[in-house]
Amino acid sequence: MSKVVIFNASPRKNGYTAKLLEQVGKGAKSKGAEVIEFDLNDSGIRGCQGCYYCRTHDGCAIKDYLQPMYEAINEADAIVFGSPIYYYQITGQAKVWLDRTFPMVGDNFAPRHSGKKLITIFSQGSPNPEMAADGIKAVNNILAAYGWKLEDSIHCCGTTDFRSEKLERFNSNIEQFEELSQRAFRDGENLVR
Ligand SMILES: Cc1cc2nc3c(=O)[nH]c(=O)nc-3n(C[C@H](O)[C@H](O)[C@H](O)COP(=O)(O)O)c2cc1C
Repeated sequence: MSKVVIFNASPRKNGYTAKLLEQVGKGAKSKGAEVIEFDLNDSGIRGCQGCYYCRTHDGCAIKDYLQPMYEAINEADAIVFGSPIYYYQITGQAKVWLDRTFPMVGDNFAPRHSGKKLITIFSQGSPNPEMAADGIKAVNNILAAYGWKLEDSIHCCGTTDFRSEKLERFNSNIEQFEELSQRAFRDGENLVR
């Protein structure tokens, strides 16, 4: 059975990132995959301590909420990562997670767990995709350096109408979000082949 591990770096349980990640999960499950999700907003997560345990071990010395993710990634066929854009970049929660993935590489940055499929998802308030393009590229490049093959990267833009401080801009553009939702579902299906 295919195993898919989802990492959700949005604190909003019903936000755009969460909804799109859910669709990927549903798509994968519809094809028979086992789906495991990690909530990167969990208060039991600690940041990397820079102890360099992972330079000599394939794993992390920190025993916290994230500790089971190392075995989950090891067993996974596919990784799905999603984050909102905060200040042109991924959220703080996502960055903490990214630091904790340092064990994914060993000596000379040689990947220890390569060959996984990868889907990334980003949501931002601004309708201009250029705003977060550099931040997204950096994250996608880091995950690709782990030997994970980027199958699709969805960038959901224009979620927030800052002038009226409404968070549901897509309500007036529901077709666009529906398209992205369907794409996310298909991405999930395609992880299982
Ligand atoms: C602290 C903070 C910083 C943000 N910075 C940006 C930004 O730089 N560019 C942008 O387009 N939207 C920004 N936003 C808006 C979010 O990206 C937007 O609300 C997004 O939909 C959140 O994702 P979610 O719906 O999955 O929670 C920011 C929101 C917060 C709370």
